[in-house]
Amino acid sequence: MYESYFDPYFRLRHDIYVKQHKWMALDRPDGLEKDQFDTEDAVYLFCIDGGQLIGAMRALPTQMPTLMSDIFPYLNIRGPIRRQDVFELSRIFVIPERRGEHAGPRVEMLLLTAITEYGISIGLTGFSIVLESWWLPRFERIGWKAQPLGMPQTIDGMSVLAVLVDCDETTWKSLCHQIGLTRPTLTWRGLADVNRQALPDISVPVPPTAQPAR
Ligand code: COA
Repeated sequence: MYESYFDPYFRLRHDIYVKQHKWMALDRPDGLEKDQFDTEDAVYLFCIDGGQLIGAMRALPTQMPTLMSDIFPYLNIRGPIRRQDVFELSRIFVIPERRGEHAGPRVEMLLLTAITEYGISIGLTGFSIVLESWWLPRFERIGWKAQPLGMPQTIDGMSVLAVLVDCDETTWKSLCHQIGLTRPTLTWRGLADVNRQALPDISVPVPPTAQPAR
């Protein structure tokens, strides 16, 4: 159903991570940025506007190999997370021309809200992430509770650490409230086989859990 989006998706990843960020270990001659975790088990969240892919994120079941278990195991001092209720997030991006928007919900906030909705819908309680430390104040601002799993390490000049982020209804409601959503964000098509839990009502605004940045 969404097959035609995958070629542009992997090309965008190549443009962003290889050409722009210079993460040359991800370079491939075919101009597609794909790695060993892009398997049938990966879940792709696409933000599509008018038929154009404008942002995306990848979620991997932690019972399968992940970035944290196979590439950066030393970032998690407690050892690899292999839990049915935790997925690993990676490769979040927004296309350059849609970044930093102020009119309407930012695409990046929509992605974080949508992945939280997905998580609570399928019974997840957390997301593990290997990230650069500049994300932490951003998560703090929006109320994403991130628990460090080890000390930050400098990798290729970047300060990188592993975290576990809570995925729960309160966080989802707060994210929806912050971007003015009164109904779920995700479009579920062709996923009738996925076991889903009912979502809480978000039509009544709740106070945000986000703390003001200090
Ligand atoms: N290093 C440090 N800070 C960064 C950053 C980076 N590589 N990328 C974004 N930021 C922070 C900055 O504080 C920036 O503020 P500034 O305007 O003062 O520079 C702020 O994020 C806003 O970022 P911006 O890109 O304007 O918009 P956004 O919030 O809509 O989108 C991202 C944020 C990360 C989704 C977007 O920048 C993106 O797609 N980047 C490329 C993909 C990527 O790096 N993903 C993370 C690793 S998987």
